[in-house]
Amino acid sequence: MSSMVGLKGSHRPTICYRPIRPSDLEVLEKIHGDLFPIRYESEFFHNVVNGREVVSWGAVDRSRPNGQSDELIGFVTARIVLAKESEVEDLLRFDPSKSDQRLVYILTLGVVESYRNLGIASSLIQEVIKYASNIPNCQAVYLHVISYNNSAIHLYQKMSFQCVRRLHAFYFINGQHYDAYLFIYYVKGGRSPCSPLELVTLGVTYMRSGFKSVVARLRKNEDSKVPQWSKCKESGCLIPTTQNKRILKSEDTGCQFV
Ligand SMILES: CC(C)(COP(=O)(O)OP(=O)(O)OC[C@H]1O[C@@H](n2cnc3c(N)ncnc32)[C@H](O)[C@@H]1OP(=O)(O)O)[C@@H](O)C(=O)NCCC(=O)NCCS
Repeated sequence: MSSMVGLKGSHRPTICYRPIRPSDLEVLEKIHGDLFPIRYESEFFHNVVNGREVVSWGAVDRSRPNGQSDELIGFVTARIVLAKESEVEDLLRFDPSKSDQRLVYILTLGVVESYRNLGIASSLIQEVIKYASNIPNCQAVYLHVISYNNSAIHLYQKMSFQCVRRLHAFYFINGQHYDAYLFIYYVKGGRSPCSPLELVTLGVTYMRSGFKSVVARLRKNEDSKVPQWSKCKESGCLIPTTQNKRILKSEDTGCQFV
């Protein structure tokens, strides 16, 4: 996949997307160091470049001179998690017959500064969504973002991710607590609360049960008071929660996204 985009500055980049490989190790580590307040362990980078438990995509600018045409200028890393072991299980469609339902959790995403606002991160996220959509039983892509990261928040909203939770003091970085937002993007109808189909099903069930209860009441010569619709509890944006509170020091090795 490639695209031509206009870069502020001297040259016109030709952005291509490709898998991340062992030769990217050094640059990948450097960009992470430059972009994130959290230090990742060397094991994390080795796992990324060798595709061990982590899937990843890189962006390069083919028009870069001096042998840099294959050097990463952006990346996204993610891993597959079991829905039942995740913190978002309650936000998914429950299917007791499928205990192996999966999710894709985005670990890190970054684009070097001179290549920002060209749609590179959006394309990388699209790759993740496409990948997740092709995994059997994968219900959603989700991630955490630190509450002050407006550019990333804007990006996820633009990509139709839903902000479903605010996690109080989720991060602990350099002695300070920060809240996180949890964003989720449902694939293949993984969404739990009140999809249109569920509303129709609920409506039919309601009408059936309502009809039965009216008949029963008529039989008993009771008043036939039709029950009220129960309100669909949709997860709103920024629900404060104390669950899943996570403390993360800058020297910690966790892979949460900031
Ligand atoms: C967040 C990040 C990955 C975005 O990369 P990118 O390639 O510039 O993203 P895109 O070009 O696909 O989209 C950027 C969008 O955000 C908007 N944006 C950029 N900065 C913004 C800001 N400060 N406030 C609001 N919106 C902003 C852009 O205008 C664009 O939206 P638009 O298409 O509606 O104009 C990049 O800024 C980055 O690497 N930041 C540092 C690492 C990081 O924070 N990673 C995310 C961790 S959760």
